[in-house]
Amino acid sequence: MENKRLIIEYREYSSEEELPNEYKELYAKAIEATKGSYAPYSNFHVGAALLLDSGEILTGANQENIAYPSGLCAERVALFGAHANRPERSVEAIAIVAETGGSITERYAFPCGACRQVMIESQQRAGKNIKVLIGSRSKILMVDSVTDLLPFVFDGLEA
Ligand code: THU
Repeated sequence: MENKRLIIEYREYSSEEELPNEYKELYAKAIEATKGSYAPYSNFHVGAALLLDSGEILTGANQENIAYPSGLCAERVALFGAHANRPERSVEAIAIVAETGGSITERYAFPCGACRQVMIESQQRAGKNIKVLIGSRSKILMVDSVTDLLPFVFDGLEA
């Protein structure tokens, strides 16, 4: 038996202004994207913005449905939309923000497990790590790879 340890590094920015310049617009677009959320059941409005290798930014927002499981998270709306409409492009970064009761959530808007799995596959498609920015009212957390959010990922059956 061997004890092993997994260390995950992440950065915490204390404001939007502190973010690296290349991600400022991306983060602002994620906040703006919360306006496209349809969340009458949870009142939890999530926005996701993707930075493509072309420099284009595409967004998504969660879409709920009265038959609850039929809805979809903001991250997957954004990622599936991007892959469907820009199949030749790869995703370089994703920013996620949630708003409820008229303001950005106090806690980080961490993506759910299903979205992490989808983000990992986008990363594999890109062949390059995707940076993930996760917003909150006062701070922004950033990891350099989706695997930092989902270590020991399911990545396929053996032949
Ligand atoms: N939601 C997202 O959009 N992204 C996540 O990663 C977690 C949850 C949405 C789904 C649902 O519309 C609402 O937030 C409450 O769970």
